[in-house]
Amino acid sequence: MGTKIQAVKGMNDLLPVEQKDFKLTASFWQAFEDTVSRWAGRFGYQQIRTPIVEQTGLFVRSIGEETDVVGKEMYTFADSNDKLSLSLRPEGTASCLRAVVEHNLLYNNPQKLWYMGPMFRRERPQKGRYRQFHQVGIEALGFEGPDIDAEIIAMSADLWKELGIRDYLTLEINSLGNREERAAHRAALVAYLSRYEDKLDEDSKRRLYTNPLRVLDSKNPDLQEICNAAPHLTDYLGESSRAHYQQFKAMLDGLNIDYIENPRLVRGLDYYNQTVFEWTTDKLGAQATVCGGGRYDGLIEELGGKPAPSIGFAMGVERLLLLVREYGKLAFQTAPDIYAVHQGEGAVLQVMKYAQALRSDGWRVLQHSGYQSLKTQMKKADASGARFALIVAQSELSDGTVTLKDMSGRHAQVTVDAALLSDTLEQWKNN
Ligand code: HAM
Repeated sequence: MGTKIQAVKGMNDLLPVEQKDFKLTASFWQAFEDTVSRWAGRFGYQQIRTPIVEQTGLFVRSIGEETDVVGKEMYTFADSNDKLSLSLRPEGTASCLRAVVEHNLLYNNPQKLWYMGPMFRRERPQKGRYRQFHQVGIEALGFEGPDIDAEIIAMSADLWKELGIRDYLTLEINSLGNREERAAHRAALVAYLSRYEDKLDEDSKRRLYTNPLRVLDSKNPDLQEICNAAPHLTDYLGESSRAHYQQFKAMLDGLNIDYIENPRLVRGLDYYNQTVFEWTTDKLGAQATVCGGGRYDGLIEELGGKPAPSIGFAMGVERLLLLVREYGKLAFQTAPDIYAVHQGEGAVLQVMKYAQALRSDGWRVLQHSGYQSLKTQMKKADASGARFALIVAQSELSDGTVTLKDMSGRHAQVTVDAALLSDTLEQWKNN
């Protein structure tokens, strides 16, 4: 026997059943994907699918060289033929915009797009943090806001409500202003933090000159006092940024969406400006952010497109579904409606025909495969969770009948003419 090969660390299988250390099943996931595509459709968003691999330069240019995601976490490799540097996508926004610019989708036509799929970041795995994880994201391209800023928040809140987790999520918002305002704040921040340089930890010291905003994100308890007293970006906003932020907040108020203003919310990717936000929960331990996003008005231009102010967000599917599984609701069916049983020569073919006709009427029919005893087959029918069993043995085969059993015992077992198969099941289903 060969040695067993295991999945790559931090990358999960989705199975039909729950695993000890990963409780999400493929059917639960599928139910979520169905819910998400209906939800996006309700808001008029169109789906986009892009490749999982892109040129590394796309992520360097958009997410930023100094970010943890690009600097430390990407799976990057050389394409052996033409020596191009390629990377597994660590997020969806960059790829989405690359496709939009490449195919000129914004020509006279703003776009509301959504996507879902796997993303890859080489982080230290723990509950809610994986190396292959999944995002559902939306991007609204070519809209200045602030109405769209409020719309996408309302859109996310609508999904939380449908999934029954609205009460477990808190919305945090902030404004990062425009490029000049951010530069002025950055200068003030570096000057302020430099005064405490000897107190900063190694990570923060490194970030002080590369990405000082991220120092404010530090979870180190010893730095909280310093970070709390640091210059706030909101104090550096000019009139127009301030007005955008005020109108955005007024719309959230008008929509009865509660929020917390968090002046230290900066996000981990470089492309943001103006409105940024995160939905967080206290139910998932350290991995508290379930969804994050914001405006990135300059990014499309930076990727070679015509300027188009834009905003979007992405949610982490694993985190969200762990929350839904524990506290929310998501209906799905894994059991068949009918388990089809056969015995004796010729019966299997007849059962296949009946099963196929029932499937055309919309029934979920699991047919027994192989030639076990009736007793064994009925045990399997029971274990499958099916509501009904359809049985064709020799006597049914010879006189053109079928036997039907209600596994719950609510109806007495009957043998009826095969022509009455569908009607009998319909009657049983409805009462
Ligand atoms: P992000 O904050 O980097 O933003 O990721 C969005 C969400 O993905 C996070 O809030 C989290 O739920 C989930 N996530 C991130 N890393 C992991 C991981 N290693 N394991 C599990 N879940 C994870 C973005 O990616 C932006 N592209 C969002 C956006 C779209 N902004 C504008 N448009």
